Amino acid sequence: MINNIFAVYFSPTGNTAKIVKDVATTVGAELGHPIKVIDYTLPQNRNHHLNFQKEDLVIWGTPVYAGRIPNKLLPYVRSGAIGNGALAVPIAVFGNRNYDDCLFELRNELERNNFHTIAGAAFVSAHVFSDKIGAGRPDAADSEEMQRFAKKLAEKIKRMTNIPKPVEISKRDVVGSYYTPLGVDGKPAVFLKAKPETDVVKCQKCGLCVAVCPMGSISKENPLNVTGICIKCQACIMVCPNNAKYMDDPEFLSHKAMLEKNYTDRAANKIFYGEL
Ligand SMILES: Cc1cc2nc3c(=O)[nH]c(=O)nc-3n(C[C@H](O)[C@H](O)[C@H](O)COP(=O)(O)O)c2cc1C
Ligand code: SF4
Ligand code: SF4
Repeated sequence: MINNIFAVYFSPTGNTAKIVKDVATTVGAELGHPIKVIDYTLPQNRNHHLNFQKEDLVIWGTPVYAGRIPNKLLPYVRSGAIGNGALAVPIAVFGNRNYDDCLFELRNELERNNFHTIAGAAFVSAHVFSDKIGAGRPDAADSEEMQRFAKKLAEKIKRMTNIPKPVEISKRDVVGSYYTPLGVDGKPAVFLKAKPETDVVKCQKCGLCVAVCPMGSISKENPLNVTGICIKCQACIMVCPNNAKYMDDPEFLSHKAMLEKNYTDRAANKIFYGEL
């Protein structure tokens, strides 16, 4: 018996938020419940622990970074929420390259925290690094697939008389390593320390970028400065009304060019229904 449906996500540029909320809303409509949203994108939203209960269904989404859960968010995924027997559906949102082990990792983390994962999905979105990769995704065909997934999920929940086995995402026991970004020359592109630059002339010091940075890394006093860790999420670049922020790190740009060369073909969504 499900009484509450939660859409839980990290989503600096909004793709994961939209997909998770769409799926949750359809499941909610089928089961007769409105959804509750828990957005842990901003640092101030990661200060408290989440405690679910067994009458809850939690649709938990994360974007794929280097084939995995964004590593700076892993501590929160790991220790921020206790399932207490709640049902969960992991969702990985990826930018048309690959979701690699991200969905498997999220499913494992949820199971470890006493959630029961009953299904899972990896959905394609636009890639935040380039408007040429996954452009327009999710499109109408994707939305249809998401709706089908959500409806089948609701049917499964209505029929459930006991807790099924954890949804199988991979035959392996252990999550693989992070994807190594490559440059156009096929060699690793090292841009771990890269940060967005700011055009002093264009910047109006409006502070919008400060407010959206999931790492709280842009200086309030001077938004030209990124003083803390940058996870390359692109939120500050996308939110700036004056196009003042940009990436000029050569290794980052080489990776972007490599993606544009090799990953423009339409990637498929992948859905795991588990035991029906
Ligand atoms: C640092 C970083 C690494 C990424 N790595 C991958 C990846 O390994 N595979 C992939 O297909 N997309 C990758 N992407 C693209 C994102 O998964 C995709 O654009 C996603 O929609 C972003 O989610 P958001 O809009 O919720 O922030 C990466 C994006 C970022 C910022
Ligand atoms: S959003 Fe753009 S204009 Fe506003 S403070 Fe940031 S860089 Fe400057
Ligand atoms: S500074 Fe880095 S982490 Fe912060 S919003 Fe910009 S790209 Fe994202």
